[in-house]
Amino acid sequence: MNKDFLTLQDINQDEMWQIFELAAKLKKERNTSDFKPLAGKSIGLIFAKSSTRTRVSFEVGVHELGGNPLYLDQGKMQIGRGSETVGDTAKVLSRYLHGIVIRTYAHAEVEELAREANIPVINALTNEYHPCQLLADLFTIYEYSGKLDRSVKVGFYGDGRSNIANSMILAARLSGIDLVVCAPEEERPDEALMANAPNVRWESDPKKAAKDLQYIYTDVWVSMGFEEEKARRMALFQPYQVNRAIFDLAAPDCKFLHCLPAHRGEEVSADILDGKCSIVYDEAENRLHVQKALMAKLIGKN
Ligand code: CP
Ligand code: NVA
Repeated sequence: MNKDFLTLQDINQDEMWQIFELAAKLKKERNTSDFKPLAGKSIGLIFAKSSTRTRVSFEVGVHELGGNPLYLDQGKMQIGRGSETVGDTAKVLSRYLHGIVIRTYAHAEVEELAREANIPVINALTNEYHPCQLLADLFTIYEYSGKLDRSVKVGFYGDGRSNIANSMILAARLSGIDLVVCAPEEERPDEALMANAPNVRWESDPKKAAKDLQYIYTDVWVSMGFEEEKARRMALFQPYQVNRAIFDLAAPDCKFLHCLPAHRGEEVSADILDGKCSIVYDEAENRLHVQKALMAKLIGKN
């Protein structure tokens, strides 16, 4: 494995399956496991943005693997008040910690931190990518479908350039599932991310995109850090709401995915989010098991 996990391009398909195999075992044996690959290790969790799932699943996950999680509010660190460089922060933290999990704004900042640190760095969300989320989502899809290949049809609706959409495209490339990103022209997915991936396509028509889908995924229309664009985004993405009319065009047993937090009545109607097609809490739970497996492989090996 690479030292760091900054996007889904940092692992190959073999490594993905190794992580899923371990995640399934850790999920099954959660209450009985004495697997402690992080014993004696401290993991820093740096957060510049709000979080419920990511923070809690990483804190609990490190603890369950025998390690010591340190929550670090980036705003209260020297780097957060503009008093220290990313490089100095990385070098100093590398003297104390055995791994860093970071959620921040610019992806370039996480890349710099990873370059300057000699310990593993895990991206817990940037403006551009959210790889831990999509790794857990792939695992969730695998649990339901029993396979990850082109016969598994997934649609992502809404902001085609969000961190979730970008990581979903990389998730499709990694696993081989079939993906249609359904987004308006103005926020259509990055061509470079989709290049040479015959299993990934863009479609602007929400009705056309729904055909045969087995999973429909959406995310908020206004991501953290994009609040100033709220009015434009709310109007632009309105036709891309995931609701009963869309589900009626999909495969009969189509499941609903959302990274959460969700806004009922905006990107998804309440009846879909709270309905029996929704597997959003399985997705949230799987963050814990998959991230534990990832940390065991990345940080627990030394
Ligand atoms: N899905 C997700 O990352 O949730 P949080 O923002 O609550 O961590
Ligand atoms: N796209 C969302 C995901 C939150 C988990 C955001 O960045 O705010």
